[in-house]
Amino acid sequence: MGFATTAMEFMVYAFVGVIGALALTVVIFFVIDRSQTSDAIRRNYPVIGRFRRVFSALGEFFRQYFFAMDREELPFNRAQREWVKRAGDGHGNTVAFGSTRNTSVVGTPTFVNAAFPPLDDQHSKTEPMVIGPGARTPFVAPSFFNVSGMSYGAISRPAVQALSRGAKVAGVWLNTGEGGLSPFHLEGGCDVVFQIGTAKYGVRTEEGHLSDEKLRAVAEHETVRMFEIKLAQGAKPGKGGILPGEKVSAEIAKIRGIPIGQDSISPNRHVEVDDFGELLDMIGHVRDVTGKPVGIKTVVGAEAPLRELFELIVKRGADVAPDFITIDGGEGGTGAAPMPLIDLVGMSVREALPLVANLRDEYGLKDRIRLIASGKLVNPGDVAWALAAGADFVTSARGFMFSLGCIQALKCNKNTCPTGITTHDLRFQKGLVVEDKYKRVARYAKEITKEVEMIAHSVGVTEPRLMRRRHVRITQSDGRSIPMNEILPSYNPVAKM
Ligand SMILES: Cc1cc2nc3c(=O)[nH]c(=O)nc-3n(C[C@H](O)[C@H](O)[C@H](O)COP(=O)(O)O)c2cc1C
Repeated sequence: MGFATTAMEFMVYAFVGVIGALALTVVIFFVIDRSQTSDAIRRNYPVIGRFRRVFSALGEFFRQYFFAMDREELPFNRAQREWVKRAGDGHGNTVAFGSTRNTSVVGTPTFVNAAFPPLDDQHSKTEPMVIGPGARTPFVAPSFFNVSGMSYGAISRPAVQALSRGAKVAGVWLNTGEGGLSPFHLEGGCDVVFQIGTAKYGVRTEEGHLSDEKLRAVAEHETVRMFEIKLAQGAKPGKGGILPGEKVSAEIAKIRGIPIGQDSISPNRHVEVDDFGELLDMIGHVRDVTGKPVGIKTVVGAEAPLRELFELIVKRGADVAPDFITIDGGEGGTGAAPMPLIDLVGMSVREALPLVANLRDEYGLKDRIRLIASGKLVNPGDVAWALAAGADFVTSARGFMFSLGCIQALKCNKNTCPTGITTHDLRFQKGLVVEDKYKRVARYAKEITKEVEMIAHSVGVTEPRLMRRRHVRITQSDGRSIPMNEILPSYNPVAKM
């Protein structure tokens, strides 16, 4: 009895104490909110105004689970992400009942089914494609779908390791991004494309110029198949950056070739390239030094500069051409970039790719320059569209991030990525188990290939690169669809139609 009374008294005191503490907190917050001057809502609605921020933050997480419809979110909706997840699971990718896709949205591509598609025994395998036939060591690329550039630094060590091992299993290439070549890119043994960013990380002299000696050393790795000179990426054309000193660990400093602990500047373009003539000189130089194919990555703003480039190539001779051009759409992703550049600058790949393909063909460079397309091309229909529009290859960054488990938390710039992909916090990296994730990467790449082949067979051709613009119809504002070759005719209609 005595014990029960004491316990009861204790609970009453505890209850009163908690209520008292809560009341005191409310009073303190009230005084703070009323007296601060920076937040009008909290000043006018003390204490309650604080919930607005809490709910906004929670909304970011809960929207995708409870409120957003399958096809609603941006940059990628649930249907797109779930397709990658199911592909990574390897449990087959069929869905039930019917499509949730709204095909009346302007710009939606649909494919033209053939009356008599090729029979199963008439399908052919997608042939490997040669890139840079004039280089001392051309690259025979096995897959039309590959991993786009993401630097070690923007993504974590286990992410790079899983991509490298998964890419090897699937037979696809892995682009290093602009952060240099790390041992983790190489450890899976996949084909690697080395990207030369404006800071020339990994192949730079102390002053930040190209080092031929380091270029040669990178090219000596047999699995480094090509070099890509980055002019711009879709999410941030014309933007350089600063790598803050605190992020330049001994490891990063070694890989990138910069001093430990000091800020490192990426200029907003290659400082030694002022015009297309100098760009072609640089491409030729890197090809001479490395012996491997060399291309460029850029975003298209308008047609005129591309004409200037192609005209110059024709004038100097096709040998000087870049071996490939990667067209990144304005809708492309990034680890971090200013919102105006992400949202407002650079043409969508849906517009840019057909434009560049036509120009390349018009200047007679179709067999000389390979076109690689990227920009939200993460599901089979997107990849099939790009091949039909004129791409020789498609690459994806965020598609492969989804295969690694990305949940689109939009925290790539904060070191708090909950799935361990874009963070260097070991606590979060623990969630990204390379041994499991590399298999998902491989299954995703293979499933894309399989389903793009399925679309190709459905439109009546035996392999994906035989798809043409006439095989795709684009929905118009009046609800009707029109064949893509009527809206965006290929340069050589006889060959393309
Ligand atoms: C985390 C992250 C890091 C990236 N780092 C680079 C980079 O180092 N160099 C580059 O050219 N592009 C970089 N990109 C852009 C991608 O390579 C790609 O061009 C773009 O995201 C479009 O492809 P996607 O829509 O499939 O993501 C990065 C993208 C992401 C999401």
